[in-house]
Amino acid sequence: MGSYVGVFGMGVMGQSLALNIASKGYSVSVFNRHGEATKKFMENRVQGHEDRMKLVSDSYDLKSFCDSLETPRKIILMVKAGPVVDAVTDELLPYLESGDIVIDAGNSYYKDTKRRMDYYAEKGINFFGMGVSGGEKGALVGPSIMPSGDKNLYDTYLAKLLTDISAHTADGSPCCDYIGPEGSGQYVKMVHNGIEYGDIQNIDEAYWIMKQLLGMSNAEMADVFESWNNGRLNSFLVEITYKILREKDPETGDDLIDHILDEAAQKGTGMWTAIDGLEMHMPIPTMAEAVFARNLSAIKGQRVEASKVFSEKPAAHIEDKQAFLADLEQAVYANKIIAYAQGFQLLSAASDEHNWDLKLGDIALLWREGCIIRAGFLDRIKSAYSEGKKVVNLILTDEFREEIRAAIPAYRRVVAKAIECGLYIPTMVASLQYFDGYTSEKLEANMCQAQRDWFGAHTFHRDDRPHDESFHHTWEKLD
Ligand code: 6PG
Repeated sequence: MGSYVGVFGMGVMGQSLALNIASKGYSVSVFNRHGEATKKFMENRVQGHEDRMKLVSDSYDLKSFCDSLETPRKIILMVKAGPVVDAVTDELLPYLESGDIVIDAGNSYYKDTKRRMDYYAEKGINFFGMGVSGGEKGALVGPSIMPSGDKNLYDTYLAKLLTDISAHTADGSPCCDYIGPEGSGQYVKMVHNGIEYGDIQNIDEAYWIMKQLLGMSNAEMADVFESWNNGRLNSFLVEITYKILREKDPETGDDLIDHILDEAAQKGTGMWTAIDGLEMHMPIPTMAEAVFARNLSAIKGQRVEASKVFSEKPAAHIEDKQAFLADLEQAVYANKIIAYAQGFQLLSAASDEHNWDLKLGDIALLWREGCIIRAGFLDRIKSAYSEGKKVVNLILTDEFREEIRAAIPAYRRVVAKAIECGLYIPTMVASLQYFDGYTSEKLEANMCQAQRDWFGAHTFHRDDRPHDESFHHTWEKLD
């Protein structure tokens, strides 16, 4: 009898996922395009473990790999997102049979997933997209899993395996659930990453404010982040932040953080989220600014030169440090809620646009454990969506409305102070400005419409006529 499932790709994520699968009692065949990696995996991580040796089998050519699997085959691709996925799907084709299932577990672009599904469907093969979050450790002990594709096939062939290998919350619920058709699983993972960018940048700005405005040491900042982690800001990202601040550089004995170059990298999922927001005409400035922040950090050479030209920054003077830190906690919390509100609005718009019927509250639950943005806070989002409640924007819900109201004055004080002192805090500003725009009955856009109509006869709506009537006024032009 063949192996229950195959894992194609023996990078760190593929190795970890294969071991996770075996640890749950499933037989798994592994394959890598370069056999050396498979060999090393078998020698280093499988040998010496009785259960793994029993359940993990290796193949060194595609035919034997596919022959080693029970049918219909279930093959999880753990390869680099992008053209490699197309190459691999083509390489696999000659060895697959109608009804087989191939699951792409990489950070693929959701439109590529749909294209691959259609391509495979013509040949009778079923393609699934699957968002997986949690990094190497998550893949090993239980990631958050966001699968999409045919619902019946998912229920019949994948649901048990994937929920078994996923992270579980303290109350035993799996952080894996069917997301929807097409590339919706990878879309949800993409927005998860956009939110991840926002969360990271929010924390990083708080670090920067403490360091630059309050002159705090790394040890002092670590204590603050640790105390936040014991409160409503509890999350994996806040936890790793205080641990990072306490990490020593083995070479110099200094705090390691002070030797890390301030140039942030990225692989693209945050940028895709921002692009998708623009394409959908959805205001998601916090996530977009988090991407721009990485871009700005990356042009370090220019920043160094510009900082010599404009070297003067007003000095900070903060009288009551403890009060300011309390304000800062409010600011970080409000920024977080507003960023998630934007992310969930984007999910909701995408769900409508593509007819995916995304269950937004359930998605929040999938992110409670296993993934990078895991946090107790996500229970609150689930609760905001509970009992089929219609949520227009999370900031308006019973769950968050009063907290936001209470946090806004402190949030304004923090942002005003940081701006006054010339600090770069783009997501804090973006979320606050989003809040101010979103909660304004009137905006300056009447002037924009007038200008557009003046120079381009683009028409405008009047506020004293039905909305579907457009007008174009013949302006008395002086030029
Ligand atoms: C996850 C992460 C993972 C990866 C990001 C990093 O959920 O496990 O999001 O997918 O860490 O892709 O992305 P950047 O390199 O763009 O920061």
